[in-house]
Amino acid sequence: MKLITIVGARPQFIKAAAVSRAISQYNQKYPTHAIREIIVHTGQHYDPNMSDVFFAQMQIPQPNYHLGIGSFSHGAMTGRMLEKIEEVILKEKPDTVLVYGDTNSTLAGALAAVKLHIPVAHVEAGLRSFNMRMPEEVNRVLTDQISNWLFCPTETAVRNLKREGILESGQSLVSNVGDVMYDAALFYKKIAQPTKAIASLIKELDESFYLATVHRAENTDDPIKLSNTIDALETISKTTPVVLPLHPRTNKLLSSQHISYIRLIEPVGYFDMITLLSKCNGVFTDSGGLQKEAYFFHKPCITLRDQTEWVELVEQGCNVLVGADREKIIEAENNLINLKEITHNNYSNYLYGQGNSANKVIDQLIKNS
Ligand code: UD1
Ligand code: UDP
Repeated sequence: MKLITIVGARPQFIKAAAVSRAISQYNQKYPTHAIREIIVHTGQHYDPNMSDVFFAQMQIPQPNYHLGIGSFSHGAMTGRMLEKIEEVILKEKPDTVLVYGDTNSTLAGALAAVKLHIPVAHVEAGLRSFNMRMPEEVNRVLTDQISNWLFCPTETAVRNLKREGILESGQSLVSNVGDVMYDAALFYKKIAQPTKAIASLIKELDESFYLATVHRAENTDDPIKLSNTIDALETISKTTPVVLPLHPRTNKLLSSQHISYIRLIEPVGYFDMITLLSKCNGVFTDSGGLQKEAYFFHKPCITLRDQTEWVELVEQGCNVLVGADREKIIEAENNLINLKEITHNNYSNYLYGQGNSANKVIDQLIKNS
């Protein structure tokens, strides 16, 4: 079987790391039926600390194609990717195109494939925020409509597809395989070593700090929301330091805001991130991936959004939605002891699978090809 994997943005490298590992394990076991994986990097994320570091640390095979398409508006980015991915598909003639998550790279990959009648496999299918103003929601809904394999990370995701009629259509294979990000967290936490800079920052802070990330367009592109969020984190940092690895999007938009207390750092690699997660007191984030990782590391999560796709975490009481509301963010921090206790008591090992999701993806692709 020949598979084209489309990646481009940071969270996709982490998901693809888990699946590429499963592919190489499969190939070692069944050398005569080896899967040939061709990796296409769209170039959506391109700074070394947003891209190369993940390939190196997580031992993801180097991309066979690098399209170099980053920093464009939505239409220009998706359109250019569509054109270039089509060229690669026509040349490589894969059996399947594998896409991850909900970025512009995801939609471009799925669209290029379906137009050429190549089956599409979508890992992280069925997630919904029900907010079509989010570019990610548009990308997900459309990708799911044109996918043949819909690999859902949760039961909620399966139910969402059922509601949209996809489960019953009979043309697509929908299954809950669990979350490949859980596979990644379990595997890499055993080998992750932090850089010296992060190890000494954690020591300097006496292992008492919060970890935060802010990058969602809905937060960063609205100056009032961004300023409210940063203001709340500044206030919290006066008593418990907040470590904020800053996404380049936010960095560009934040230049006018004065920051005195938050510990701003450059984006970090996955190993540093895992180390920060394992040592922090809790997480403030608008990231999709980090909400779950907080849970994987038994940390309470205060989510800087009005909706989440990971509703089971909110239902379990481990995650609280506060939007970009300054007072709600500060109030949630005041209430963190309770959130911590609930997170500790309500942890379930099976919410996101059992750490073998990538193997399930590969098994199903092989079985149904
Ligand atoms: C994208 C995804 C988002 C995902 C996020 C993960 C879409 C619509 N959005 O958002 O779902 O959560 O990635 O991080 O696909 N930039 C750099 N260097 C880089 C990458 C980006 O400077 O290596 C800057 C550029 O100015 C760029 C901006 O960040 O224009 C935004 O990047 P883009 O890839 O368009 O969107 P993200 O906000 O990263
Ligand atoms: N991440 C990282 N370094 C950082 C910030 C995030 O390695 O400086 C990881 C994080 O642990 C998670 C993934 O990147 O695995 C999430 O990506 P991001 O928040 O950019 O995207 P989202 O999940 O919101 O789409």
